[in-house]
Amino acid sequence: MKALITGITGFVGSHLAEYLLSRKIEVVGTVRNRSRMDHIRSIEREIKLAECELRDPFSVDSLIRSEKPDLLFHLAAQSFVPTSWNSPMDTIHNNIAGQLNLMEAIRRHGLGTRIQIACSSEEYGHVNPEETPIKETNPLRPLSPYAVSKVAQDYMGYQYYRSYGLHVVRTRTFNHTGPRRGENFVTSNFAKQIADIEKGKKPPILYVGNLEAKRDFTDVRDVVRAYWLALEHGIPGEDYNIASGECHTISDMLSLLLSLSTAEIEVRTDPERLRPSDVEILLGDYRKFHEATGWKPEIPFRQTMTDLLQYWREQP
Ligand code: GDD
Repeated sequence: MKALITGITGFVGSHLAEYLLSRKIEVVGTVRNRSRMDHIRSIEREIKLAECELRDPFSVDSLIRSEKPDLLFHLAAQSFVPTSWNSPMDTIHNNIAGQLNLMEAIRRHGLGTRIQIACSSEEYGHVNPEETPIKETNPLRPLSPYAVSKVAQDYMGYQYYRSYGLHVVRTRTFNHTGPRRGENFVTSNFAKQIADIEKGKKPPILYVGNLEAKRDFTDVRDVVRAYWLALEHGIPGEDYNIASGECHTISDMLSLLLSLSTAEIEVRTDPERLRPSDVEILLGDYRKFHEATGWKPEIPFRQTMTDLLQYWREQP
């Protein structure tokens, strides 16, 4: 069994590669010449890396033709919401064209590849209070260019399933975090700031954006297990929420992190961190996925945040 992971050098991709290797799956991952390799250093000898620019149809076609993967986990994307306001065209192009090239190559080569698409809870966007916990049937009201790109990826998966019978399973993952989370994202950003303050690398002031938003966080190690199960037991053409079913304000998440440190820290709002529009609440209902696959989250939020802070403490 051979799995292809796009975005293998990233946060989720590196955890997924480790998980698949533990299940004795052959792993191939796409890289670009500017990819950072640190997350996959320890497994570099056990995986195959293939240079591929997903936006380039020729590059993708030759990759798919030569690798003929049984499983495709499509994780590569521009995934940071604020960046999508600064460069909306790049986000839209990157996220949509990359996937289109993959789908077209798999279709043209007549492969039976099982495909997981990393969609997002951001697609739900504006959610009315009575709509939580959010089910897959909720209207999609995206609030950022990133969210729009994910809606397109999601529906493109549906369309390729309907039009050509490709085995596409769409996972709408709510926020996820854990060791190696990129430092732009809120959990990692706050944890890194605390670790830097503890090390004396920065003054004891922690900068924040909107602390009122509510998010549903799942540990990345639970998420990658979910992706595997999505292709083992998920029904092609379906979409599934992957969530913890619990919601925290960003302020509560910050309090938890601060309680794990003995440093005296002042919290200050940085207006630059506020967004043109922010999704107020994301709280997911993952029952549909549980019923299809038996998956449920196993790692408690406190453990995830403890491991994340420890990760940043150990970074040079
Ligand atoms: N990044 C960041 N930095 N966010 C902050 C900060 C800060 O200093 N202060 C408050 N926030 C708030 C944001 O306004 C947002 O409401 C929340 O914290 C989470 O922000 P992010 O961690 O940047 O994630 P996101 O919710 O915008 O998107 C993430 O989750 C999606 C799934 O729901 C990303 O991982 C997406 O790629 C993913 O699809």
